[in-house]
Amino acid sequence: MNAPIGVIDSGVGGLTVAKEIMKRLPNETIYYIGDTARCPYGPRSRQEVRNFTWQMAKALEKLNIKMLVIACNTATAVALESLQRNMPFPVLGVINAGARAAVKKTKRHEVVVLATEGTIKSGAYEEALLSLNTSTHIIPLACPTFVPLVESGEYKGDFATKLIAEGLKPLKNQQFDTVILGCTHYPILQKQIEAVVGEDVNVLSSAEETAKDVQEMLAFNGTLANAYTVPAHKFFATGSVPIFRSIAENWLEQGTLDIKRITLK
Ligand code: DGL
Repeated sequence: MNAPIGVIDSGVGGLTVAKEIMKRLPNETIYYIGDTARCPYGPRSRQEVRNFTWQMAKALEKLNIKMLVIACNTATAVALESLQRNMPFPVLGVINAGARAAVKKTKRHEVVVLATEGTIKSGAYEEALLSLNTSTHIIPLACPTFVPLVESGEYKGDFATKLIAEGLKPLKNQQFDTVILGCTHYPILQKQIEAVVGEDVNVLSSAEETAKDVQEMLAFNGTLANAYTVPAHKFFATGSVPIFRSIAENWLEQGTLDIKRITLK
């Protein structure tokens, strides 16, 4: 079935998940919405994040997607269940996938969760991690400066390195062997984060596991695209198209992308 897969995020973060889906499922078309005008979602109320997430899902429903990936941990934490219950297509989040990736990798069961304030406050990672292994010791850390850094496009220089080191300071003297990048923006900062926590620590995102979940879900429903389909991805941003374009084209390495401005209501 050659209908598109919908992917949503508060901004460019979900592109880290979209990239893994493109890698694993090269015949699938992705329709992506980044709510860049209202990013970050991290400090917003649950109700507000739920409303915005619903608006994105509704906009993609009109474009006849065959499934939806909430490629945003903050939105997954507050809107996954209600969307799963009410949308006419399957809906996947990223939190269970992230927790699974960590539990597969950790040896000492000491796991740091880096995420937005909203995700940390929701306790969704604790729940997901403990449901997989009850003896996991979890160290949650909100990093509110990281998303604005990525969205500004200024995430490569010295200033970024300093800001990241500062944000990770509370991890000093803590014992852990695995870090979950529990915000889909953070894989864009992965190298800098790895440099701070050291090379003995596994730094993981939910992207790969989520892409596996997408494949399984489509296969299960018999809705995978035909093997000869050439994908025609479309991207929509609620804010500046040029800034979205520069980050998306740099991250996805797919040449010029089809990106349009969208208004959500
Ligand atoms: N990328 C998002 C996440 O995974 C949201 C970041 C934000 O808007 O604060 O949580």
